[in-house]
Amino acid sequence: MDITIIGTGYVGLVAGACFSKAGHNVISLDTNVERINGLNNLELPIFEPGLKNIITKSFKEKRLKFSTSYKQACVNKVIFICVDTPSKKNGEADLTNLKKVLNSLAEFIQPGAMLITKSTVPVGTGKFIKSFFDNKFANREMNLRFCSNPEFLREGSAVRDFLKPERIIIGCDSPQGRKIMEEIYHPIDKKIFNKMIYMSVSSAELSKYAANAFLATKISFVNEIAKLSDKVGANIHEIKSALGSDSRIGDQFLNAGLGFGGSCFPKDLNALYYLEKKFKLEPSIVKTVLALNNSQIDYFYNKIKKHYGRSLKNKTICFWGLSFKPNTDDVRDSMAISLINKLSKEVKYLRLYDPVANKNAKMVLSSLSDIEFFENMYDALHSSDCLIIATEWELFSKPDIKKLSFLKDKLIFDGRNILDADQLNKYNIIYNGIGC
Ligand code: UDX
Repeated sequence: MDITIIGTGYVGLVAGACFSKAGHNVISLDTNVERINGLNNLELPIFEPGLKNIITKSFKEKRLKFSTSYKQACVNKVIFICVDTPSKKNGEADLTNLKKVLNSLAEFIQPGAMLITKSTVPVGTGKFIKSFFDNKFANREMNLRFCSNPEFLREGSAVRDFLKPERIIIGCDSPQGRKIMEEIYHPIDKKIFNKMIYMSVSSAELSKYAANAFLATKISFVNEIAKLSDKVGANIHEIKSALGSDSRIGDQFLNAGLGFGGSCFPKDLNALYYLEKKFKLEPSIVKTVLALNNSQIDYFYNKIKKHYGRSLKNKTICFWGLSFKPNTDDVRDSMAISLINKLSKEVKYLRLYDPVANKNAKMVLSSLSDIEFFENMYDALHSSDCLIIATEWELFSKPDIKKLSFLKDKLIFDGRNILDADQLNKYNIIYNGIGC
């Protein structure tokens, strides 16, 4: 099948790559000329495990093309919209980029084309897109089809999530549209039909927000229990095993820590909050989850302050982890970056390390002085007073403990609860997790 993907961010780039891997001919379109030039030279704008290999192969085999031309992209009749929908100041999802796409498509789209929205969009956007084209082509028979197909991939495991999805949500009212969606997804995996869940466009749009909000709620809930564990001397790891073994609860997204960041959870929760308000509902859960998450950094920061019991101004602190989660170089809404901004005003020096996010972190922290980036995690540790772990990279979970002993204060603040406290204590290293 010939497919066009509009937008080469995380979702668009991964979708284009994976559909081409499945054998479809894909045109990936973006109006960012620099980005498309880079992609045509096989330079990826993001770090995502496995993505470069797929793109390189499909590009060389001419199943994946990159373009800035809507005219060229609209040769195909199956078109996915994967542009970003960032937060406005009031939390509402900003559909400016999506509307630009619709205007550009209106010039070149062919009769019989199918438009599929993968971007996370507020409920009602599907109806808006349909009425936009109904108005544009009021005097012309276009027979356009519309579908909502929200994407659930996670950064860091995006390729695997796309190729082995747990479910594919199809919000589409027409049987023909559903058939096209089956033809698109079938080559990825012959058994994929079992994973396709059909529903109305509005339900599909809301499902995405509901899923993200639910996962974020799990995280904030476990963070709340972790804080209580700190007070009463319980251990959140033990509590997690008790909770997680109950299949009604499930054991995922129960890791306490600095809280959730990234380009999706905070944005989508804010958009859901806005949507509920718009329909005169009281978004109590969403509001609390956001507030808890925002205060989690303060909780951890106060732990550091309390431990030292005095000013931090003579302290050199090493940071391991800058991205918002492991296996990505994405630092958008990263808890590590928030904490660095907060601490930088108070400490003598910060020594920072991330396996892949140093470059992006340098850009967002460019206004700070007295910070330094390192290419090796143990070089960053050298001559530091204490260590903060801010991202749950697997690499950090099994450190060379002898090297940790070189920390001047023999002190670790583990913002992701990934180290073994008992083992560290054997080396007389003081361990501070969250709820453990
Ligand atoms: C999320 C959704 O999981 C995905 O389905 C959706 O398509 C996009 O948003 P992503 O933002 O890539 O994906 O990362 P995710 O793995 O969900 O983690 C989000 C944040 O939660 C990270 O900051 C992570 O560190 C944090 N987290 C996750 C926890 O604090 N505890 C956990 O148990 C799990």
